[in-house]
Amino acid sequence: MIFHDVQGERVPALGFGTYLLKGDDCVTGVHHALKLGYRHIDTAQSYENEAEVGEGLRLGGVPRAEVFLVTKLRPSNFTRAADATRASLAALGTDYLDLMLLHWPKDEASVSAALEALAKLQADGAVRRIGVSNFPAKLVESAARVTRLFCNQVEYHPFLAQARLLEQAEKLDLLVTAYRPLAKGMLGEEPVLRDLGVKYGKTPEQVTLRWLVQQPRVATIPKSADPRRRAQNLDIFDFELTPAEMAAVASLARGQRLVNPENAPEWDA
Ligand SMILES: NC(=O)c1ccc[n+]([C@@H]2O[C@H](COP(=O)([O-])OP(=O)(O)OC[C@H]3O[C@@H](n4cnc5c(N)ncnc54)[C@H](OP(=O)(O)O)[C@@H]3O)[C@@H](O)[C@H]2O)c1
Repeated sequence: MIFHDVQGERVPALGFGTYLLKGDDCVTGVHHALKLGYRHIDTAQSYENEAEVGEGLRLGGVPRAEVFLVTKLRPSNFTRAADATRASLAALGTDYLDLMLLHWPKDEASVSAALEALAKLQADGAVRRIGVSNFPAKLVESAARVTRLFCNQVEYHPFLAQARLLEQAEKLDLLVTAYRPLAKGMLGEEPVLRDLGVKYGKTPEQVTLRWLVQQPRVATIPKSADPRRRAQNLDIFDFELTPAEMAAVASLARGQRLVNPENAPEWDA
């Protein structure tokens, strides 16, 4: 495992995403992920699987302190952030979150209200770190004026560069968590990734996950409902891309955004 040191915190760079994992698939998935060695788990109120993630954590039997547990506040809960966070804690069966993210930007007043409520919960120890998700650089700046931020979780893969946010993360000492890292099955069609896979005996997906976590302060959270792919996604720590190979993967960027719902903000170019 690679760990990133952000604000004195040691964050496992490879985590397990749980979007679209429901019911038993989610319980078993989280349990299995922990057994394989994943120590960073990502969920959200809107995934409606926090209880199942919690059950998987309990079954996994890994001491709570060894898991970096992340959930996200649904925008409709921004004005009742304290209650909604307590509901997440109850569903997850834990008395603290390692990181609570605002899932999407919203109007400034609601964002501020949510951040202020989370800052109070942080003072009580119920939330260790506060962050945002899908926030462009300008909105990160305003949020950071309300409270100290730890992370921005955004879409990031070889076809979508995030230069501005990475530069900002360096300045503000933030973690950048890359979601949708596997780019919806498009990685396997890319000769650069296929060739690197052949060189290292890895799949294009493994090359991509390695490329992400090898960048300073970048974590990623691939999801898989398949036990074999869950293991493959974690099997990326026995090879290292050269600086030229890192640059070759970065050069594949073509502004291809895969998650762009109606409520999306104006993205950084
Ligand atoms: N903050 C946000 O707004 C936001 C948005 C999207 C996602 N996320 C978080 O980020 C996590 C990851 O993003 P994501 O789930 O959208 O996409 P992803 O992890 O990039 O891709 C998941 C898809 O890739 C397949 N897959 C997994 N491992 C594979 C492998 N080794 N080779 C080939 N295919 C593979 C999965 O199928 P199988 O399951 O069948 O293996 C699934 O269809 C989410 O689960 C969620 O926790 C956050």
